[in-house]
Amino acid sequence: MAAADRIESLIARMTIDEKVGQLGVFADMVRPFAPDVNPEANVHNAGEVLQQVREGRVGSLFNGVGAELGRKIQKVAIEESRLGIPVILAADVIHGMRTVFPIPLGEAASFEPALAERTARATAIEATAAGLHWTYAPAVDIARDQRWGRGAEGAGEDVVLGAAFAAARVRGFQGEDPTAHDSLVATPKHFAAYGAVAAGMEYSSVDIAPQTLRDVHLPPFKAAFDAGALSVMSSFNDINGVPASANHELLTGILRGEWKFAGPVVSDYTADMELIAHGYAADERDATKKAFLAGLDLSMQSGFYAAHLPSLVESGEVPMEWLDQSVRRMLELKQRIGLFDDPYRSLDPAREADATHIPAHDMLSREAARRSVVLLKNHGGVLPLKTSEQKIALIGPFVQDRENIEGCWTLFGDKARYVTLESGVRAAIGDPGALAVVAGCGLEEALEGGIDAAVAAAQAADVVVLALGEPQRFSGEAQSRTEITLPPAQQALAEAVAATGKPMVVLLRNGRALALSGAVRDAAAIVVTWYLGTQTGHGVADVLFGHYNPSGRLPISFPQVSGQQPYFYNHLRTGRPELPSMTEYKARWRELPNEPLYPFGHGLSYTTFEYGAPQLSSAALGWDDTLTITTHITNTGGVAGEEVVQLYLHDRVASRVRPVRELKGFRKILLAPGESAEVVFTLDRRVLAFTNPNGEFAAEPGLFDLWVCASAKSGEPVQFELRGE
Ligand code: GLC
Repeated sequence: MAAADRIESLIARMTIDEKVGQLGVFADMVRPFAPDVNPEANVHNAGEVLQQVREGRVGSLFNGVGAELGRKIQKVAIEESRLGIPVILAADVIHGMRTVFPIPLGEAASFEPALAERTARATAIEATAAGLHWTYAPAVDIARDQRWGRGAEGAGEDVVLGAAFAAARVRGFQGEDPTAHDSLVATPKHFAAYGAVAAGMEYSSVDIAPQTLRDVHLPPFKAAFDAGALSVMSSFNDINGVPASANHELLTGILRGEWKFAGPVVSDYTADMELIAHGYAADERDATKKAFLAGLDLSMQSGFYAAHLPSLVESGEVPMEWLDQSVRRMLELKQRIGLFDDPYRSLDPAREADATHIPAHDMLSREAARRSVVLLKNHGGVLPLKTSEQKIALIGPFVQDRENIEGCWTLFGDKARYVTLESGVRAAIGDPGALAVVAGCGLEEALEGGIDAAVAAAQAADVVVLALGEPQRFSGEAQSRTEITLPPAQQALAEAVAATGKPMVVLLRNGRALALSGAVRDAAAIVVTWYLGTQTGHGVADVLFGHYNPSGRLPISFPQVSGQQPYFYNHLRTGRPELPSMTEYKARWRELPNEPLYPFGHGLSYTTFEYGAPQLSSAALGWDDTLTITTHITNTGGVAGEEVVQLYLHDRVASRVRPVRELKGFRKILLAPGESAEVVFTLDRRVLAFTNPNGEFAAEPGLFDLWVCASAKSGEPVQFELRGE
């Protein structure tokens, strides 16, 4: 029987309870579960879950792992339920399974989508070996306010970078063949504009211009769907007063009408239940009706669909054909990934045993770690450090820490394999006697005698490496912060150690941009190390000792102070832009100019690069033509290094004011000392297009500034004109 016929035949035979069962996701209490992630499970024990499966009342389970017990669940579904519809098994596998990779924001700093595709592929191999078919990832939210905690799960503040990483992660998770046993269904989330919550406060409301929604927050989702993503997750927030999870314009108008997306929409956790708290639904039944009729196919955790859809259909408020359409989407998803033909796919205990530790993934984790590191500052060439003949004091609450290595949203990491900073540094240096290791303080609290011990170690050393940052619980879901600063106890440690006058290298562990101050800000060197996952210690040591020349660039702007949030590089010019010559009555703060401490795209190398002026194929771009931009880049330093060459544009005059700069392309190149290369970008008017006041996506003729440079604040522009039709 043809696949489509099989699905139609099933739908024709399904009872309404069986249909609704396909539209719910239940916590997988049969297998080892991640209760700290989703505590309010709607079922409470394995027997209840298996009975629900037996009665055909649950088609999806999430956040349990294990192939053996997965087979047990599937066997009940296939052999004991009336119609034998396979269950699909999901989990939040965001940036690694047993092998943990850098948080997505850290990987975005590599400016290497291909790297993210590789780590997503490795993640998929491990996750499917552990009995999973479907991950609730990638998070593709654009985050422009660093007070929000979930920027850590995305690719930062820029839409072009975000779209590139969204597509790469989808390709990595799903692979070439969705029926392969190591293909993991991707779920771009959180649809949509979750990163635009007011004041960066988690779960807050989103008040946004339709054009900003279209031009900033939606493109990464479109890129994910164009890359083949098979499902999508709706978000908790409202959009201009209409909750995304019951937003017909979003879930049906755009997703189905404009984009023709055919996969299922699953709610984030209890987003349908939260319509009541929003004040958008009067009660459970109203919430169910509004969410479902808006286009929400699956309710993840509330149980509302099971409780209320049958009566809504019986009353005619929800047409049966609409219910069938959502059921069809779920059955088609299971069909697409081969579950009807091979229901025990990805449920092979032998494969799981083989995949518990894949050495190649450790190597990949180390490569991803070092490529995600961003060198912000390196005064006096204090870095790289020497592996011998140099006494090093390794100080700070993270130096021996294992609990803050993996970063947020890591549910199944193999903690025994985590490499601490101390382990990585010890492995890199010859003489263990050359290293003193002192915590100095706790993550948030002072330690009795900690500062004295740290100062003594610093005084006895030639150089200090100070490992500071946010406890990993400070980022991720429900972790918005009013002050994006270091904990005071850590700042005090830094001030005391800096007072010794020893050269100081600060390593930051962070899930967002931080507002750096005092001795941290003034340190000779500052290195952003995010949460780098399993191979943290080796990845950082590779950079510290020059075994890898740092190549990361900031995917987010580091502000001067928290009060500047939301700060992002591609902001509008305003009618009173502050110019060097004029600071009175200009768009700035009383205390300081509205400038970043370190801009988007910034990052140093152990070598230097020189940019020639961008050469344009023409000073005018015809309406249907292509412009070629060629730039000569030279490694003018003494070691090989990688440079992230960035293309920015500014549309000088338009029907909506345009950002001061917008990233339109990037290229990471490796150059030997003295080597030059010509980096070529091409663009046409589609790259210049934006959503105008009438809601049309179009370019407008006129003058543009163009930069090919090393960050959002560097380079000199050249001009070109886009000619009209
Ligand atoms: C959480 C998160 C979402 C996650 C889901 C299931 O609340 O918002 O990213 O996939 O619930 O755990």
